[in-house]
Amino acid sequence: MKALIYHGPGQRSWDEVPDPVIVDPTDAVVRIDSSTICGTDLHILKGDVPEVKPGTILGHEAVGTVTAVGAAVTTLAEGDRVLVSCISSCGRCRFCKEARYGLCTGGGGWVFGHLIDGLQAEYARVPFADTSVYKVPDELSDEQVLFLADILPTAFECGVLNGRVEPGDTVAIVGAGPIGLAAIMTAKLFTPGKIVAIDLADARLDKALEFGADVVINNGREDALARVLELTDGLGADVAIEAVGVADTFEMCTRLVRPGGHVANVGVHGKPAMLHLEDLWTRNVTITTGLVDTWSTPTLLKLLRTGQLAPQKFITHRFALDRVIDAYDVFSRAGDTGALKILLHK
Ligand SMILES: NC(=O)c1ccc[n+]([C@@H]2O[C@H](COP(=O)([O-])OP(=O)(O)OC[C@H]3O[C@@H](n4cnc5c(N)ncnc54)[C@H](O)[C@@H]3O)[C@@H](O)[C@H]2O)c1
Ligand SMILES: [Zn+2]
Ligand SMILES: [Zn+2]
Repeated sequence: MKALIYHGPGQRSWDEVPDPVIVDPTDAVVRIDSSTICGTDLHILKGDVPEVKPGTILGHEAVGTVTAVGAAVTTLAEGDRVLVSCISSCGRCRFCKEARYGLCTGGGGWVFGHLIDGLQAEYARVPFADTSVYKVPDELSDEQVLFLADILPTAFECGVLNGRVEPGDTVAIVGAGPIGLAAIMTAKLFTPGKIVAIDLADARLDKALEFGADVVINNGREDALARVLELTDGLGADVAIEAVGVADTFEMCTRLVRPGGHVANVGVHGKPAMLHLEDLWTRNVTITTGLVDTWSTPTLLKLLRTGQLAPQKFITHRFALDRVIDAYDVFSRAGDTGALKILLHK
């Protein structure tokens, strides 16, 4: 088969490699029908994720069709359409039993395109298949389901639910990339009073309005704190969601939040951020962090079926899987190309 192989920082190619096979009896092999590229894949290519070994197949989001199952797999059969999520679950460790699959200590967690071969390939070996993949209902298309592999559960769990968004709340979302936009989309499930999107890029703020933000602030030109205070009678946002991953925006979130409010960090930080406890200690603020667990995926699937979520609007570009190198080029120049999510199809 062909697959996108990471060869070390800055180097990747679409190569012929051996077809994946069942290794453990709990494995399945899945033909990849749709996949996509994540900002994290760009971090890997920059060399920011050193545990990814040269020779690894990249990618951690896919919808596919089961082509083989191991002897111990009981809930899947050849021909089943499945969502293969960025998080796998061994189903047995303490954390999997608590539905905190992102913390799995039994060989699951974020493994695809990280610790084992990933999903930007024609086929993939899927470990712990029974406890890790989701059968796709017939009436849902790949395009509807694909973003439940990563951005939707991430923004929903680490942003909206950790941030405890409630009806009527003012929700400030810093960063309007795919994650920030998915936070807007899933925050709306709770009928907040106002969603305020903050970003440096006007094009991303236009997207934020399209996705349902009520107010947008370009913090390169405007004082975001002053605007948010103005919108909230001087109190601050009930919830501030950090969806960038740099110190400045985390610190901004801790200033934007009202006393007693919630700061939900979603961004992946490569550098330390300052925690201003000298200002925060009297403000009874709750700060949460988190790698996505994907425990909410069944809920999100239900919302797709009832038409309450329509994440296919994240797709800005489409490429056949064998043009994945061109797709990376478009995705990595999002500022010029306007890319949000790219559909890689068979
Ligand atoms: N916690 C998790 O499990 C998890 C999972 C997936 C992704 N993430 C992380 O979420 C973050 C967002 O992901 P994404 O794919 O949307 O990234 P992205 O790079 O596409 O979007 C980031 C946005 O932030 C904006 N931005 C950059 N600097 C800014 C600043 N100083 N002020 C305001 N806006 C600024 C950019 O213009 C861009 O629109 C990343 O750090 C990513 O690694 C976390
Ligand atoms: Zn990802
Ligand atoms: Zn586990």
